[in-house]
Formats: sequence, C-alpha cells, structure tokens
Amino acid sequence: MDLLQKIKENAKLHGKKIVLPEGTEERTLQAADILLKEKIAQIILIGNPETIKSEAGRMNLENICNAIIIDPENHDKMEAYAEILFELRKKKGMTMEQAMGLVKDPLYLATLMIKAGDADGEVAGALNATGDVLRPAFQIVKTMPGCSVVSGAFILILKDKTFGDNGMLVVADCAVHPNPTASELAEIAVATAKTTKAIANMEPRVAMLSFSTMGSAKHEMVDKVVEATRLAKEMAPEFLIDGEMQADAAIVEAIGASKAPNSQVAGRANVLVFPTLEVGNIAYKLVQRLAGAEAVGPVLQGMAAPINDLSRGCSVSDIVNLVAITANQAAGM
Ligand code: ACO
Repeated sequence: MDLLQKIKENAKLHGKKIVLPEGTEERTLQAADILLKEKIAQIILIGNPETIKSEAGRMNLENICNAIIIDPENHDKMEAYAEILFELRKKKGMTMEQAMGLVKDPLYLATLMIKAGDADGEVAGALNATGDVLRPAFQIVKTMPGCSVVSGAFILILKDKTFGDNGMLVVADCAVHPNPTASELAEIAVATAKTTKAIANMEPRVAMLSFSTMGSAKHEMVDKVVEATRLAKEMAPEFLIDGEMQADAAIVEAIGASKAPNSQVAGRANVLVFPTLEVGNIAYKLVQRLAGAEAVGPVLQGMAAPINDLSRGCSVSDIVNLVAITANQAAGM
C-alpha cells in the first residue's frame, strides 16, 4: 500500500471532524463528496446552505447530504465564538463588535470551531491566500507548547527511487516563515523530523541545507545554518541531524562521502531543511514541475491544532490528501 493510501486508511479509523471553510468552492465540494463517500473523515462545510446544495446538485455530488453545513450568516453559536475571539484578542485592542463581525468570516469561524472543540482540524486555501488562512490560526489556535514558529513541510514523492527513502523526501519550510533566525530554523528542523516520523512513517535523517558544506564557504548566511544545526542537535538528540551541507552533498551518496565523510546524514538525507522560505518554496515547486514529483502538503507543523493550507492551484485529489493528513494529525494530538 502506498503512503497516501496508508494515510487515508488510518484516517478512516478515527472519524475526525474536519472543517472546510471554503464550502461553496467547486473543488472543495468535489473533494468533500469523495471524503464522505470513502468515510475518510466527517466533513463540516461552511457556506450558504442553499448554494452548497444547488452546487452539489449541479455536480451530482450525492454524498454532500452527509456533510454538516454551517451557515456563517446564521449560526446559533456565533455569539459564543465571538466571545472566545474577543477574550483572546482584547489585549491586542479587539472590541466585541469587531469580534462579532469577524466570526462571519469563514476562516475565523473555522478556527474558532476548532478552539471551541466543535471541529478537530481545518483545511483551506483553495480560494484564499496563505496569509489569510494562517492569520486567524496564529491568533486563535496559536503554536503548540514549546514551539514558537509554524512552518510548512512537503512530502515529495519522486520518480527516481534512489533518493531519500525509496524516492520519498520531506522538505521544509516551503510555506510559512520567510526568514527564520537560527533558533527558529532549529525548531523547524526538529518539527520536520517529527512530521517525517508521524506522517511519512520514516526514520528522519535531517540535512540542514546551505551553499556551503562543512565550512567550505564563509558567510553570515552559512553561520546561521551552522548555529541552527548546533541548536537542533541539542534540542533533539534522538534525531540524526547534520549540516551545514549543500543539496548534492545531502542526497547523492558519492558527493556526501567526498564532501562530508564523517556525516551519518550526508549522501542519505531523507529530510531537507531550507535556510529560508524563499529557497524552500522555489525549490519544491521546481522539483514538482521539472522532475514531475508529487508534492503532498504543505503539512503545517508547530500549530496547536491541525490546520493546513492548500495552494490555490490545488486539485481535488490535493484536497482529499490534505484532509486525510489533517485527520491523521488530529488523531495524533
Ligand atoms: N509561526 C507562529 N506565529 C506566527 C508566525 C509563525 N511563522 N508568523 C506570524 N505569527 C504570529 C505573530 O506572532 C502574530 O501573533 P499576535 O498577533 O498574537 O502577536 C500573528 O501571527 C500575526 O503576525 P504578523 O507579524 O502580523 O504576521 P503577518 O500576518 O504579517 O504574517 C504570514 C504572517 C502571513 C504567515 C507571513 O509570514 C507570510 O505571508 N508568510 C508567507 C506565506 C506565503 O505566502 N507562502 C507562500 C505560499 S504557500 C505555497 O506556495 C505552498
């Protein structure tokens, strides 16, 4: 059974409630229909009930009748949710009136449902930009204890099975935090190692990537990765983490052996940690488009509840996969 199938089968065992705030969006509805048909998760759709029903009818989506539909304009818990939001944000200057307005925004409503225990996880982003999906999550759900930064990992499933673990690599941060400090980068490395174990079911070998391998170049950007590597090893001695190293030294055995002969990671890394979001986002998209890799994610890590953000170019199967991953994360929390 391949990884995605395993993730879906595991999700079915737990029946988690996943909220989809873009409930009237075409691909989201098609994905919801598949998720309900295959019983991968319970689905909550946020949106106008009439629009959802007529769109489902137009597309012959027979399983949408089994979704829980929440109307953001008319829901009996709105005031309770607004109260939660107001309590969380009043120190930042939010008034109750503003909170009452914001709960009608499906992205805020979805996150508040999680906070109130009415949903276990959220997937959005087919329509909304990353920042708009993440901001309510940062404000309401926040980071998990001991973690200061949220980041986004992708599982890359490559055609060439000689790289990573049978062609599978986990890479981060590709989605969230533009310019991490050394200690934030160390946190991202440890979080990615945990995601690799929990979601990809692989024993992580983490390469901290740079344009230098083991001191071959001197630059403040290299210093940041060297420091992040030291901190990450200190934070999580149970994981194999090494760096700084170049991408070829990380994934090509012969180059790893020649550039970093004493490393247990070089040449056989299955986790790649990028020094900035700029590199991570560009790199994963190039691998996806030029090498034809399947890119599953982004899986958000470090958040106190599972909330995942889609690319606006996502397909129906991307949404199905990310909901299954979110349900797995919810089951593990
Ligand atoms: N982890 C945890 N908390 C965070 C993070 C983070 N990475 N970033 C911001 N926050 C928190 C802040 O502490 C703040 O909390 P507070 O209001 O309680 O004090 C809150 O979020 C808002 O912080 P801002 O600094 O105002 O954050 P802003 O909204 O400006 O930016 C954002 C956050 C939207 C995530 C920004 O960093 C961003 O745009 N990142 C890039 C996202 C992106 O475009 N990715 C590429 C596309 S994704 C793809 O291709 C797969």
